[in-house]
Amino acid sequence: MNRIHIAACCAAGLAFFSMSAASAQTISRGAVIASTCFTCHGTLGSSPSDIPSIDYIPAERMAQTLKAYKAGTRYSTVMGRHASGYSDEEIVETANYLASLQKKGK
Ligand code: HEC
Repeated sequence: MNRIHIAACCAAGLAFFSMSAASAQTISRGAVIASTCFTCHGTLGSSPSDIPSIDYIPAERMAQTLKAYKAGTRYSTVMGRHASGYSDEEIVETANYLASLQKKGK
């Protein structure tokens, strides 16, 4: 294999890798973020502890609640800090993903 051949090979590999990373992100950014919620709010948002369950909240209200936590207009101990890490777009995607679980009966 000569040098040019190797370079072409690597470029193809990189293109494939970045393409698959990009499509994974568009499909499931909400799902990835939602998985961080489940450590506190229980599996699929059904909480076994004093932390409230979030598995019944409609997408619209979820997005509003998270934005209020982020803005600091809704009191919280931890949610304000957690929500401040996400863009408004990410919040909407997460809210939609969580609501889609309810439609699947989870
Ligand atoms: C570190 C633990 C933790 C994580 C992670 C977490 N939460 Fe919370 N969440 C809480 C606590 C504790 C409260 C109660 C309010 C407070 O004190 O912050 C709460 C409150 C809420 C409420 C209000 C529920 C109600 O009935 O009033 C919603 C909605 C919510 N969280 C959604 C989420 C979403 C969506 C995520 C993931 C993006 C998430 N939380 C991640 C701990 C957490």
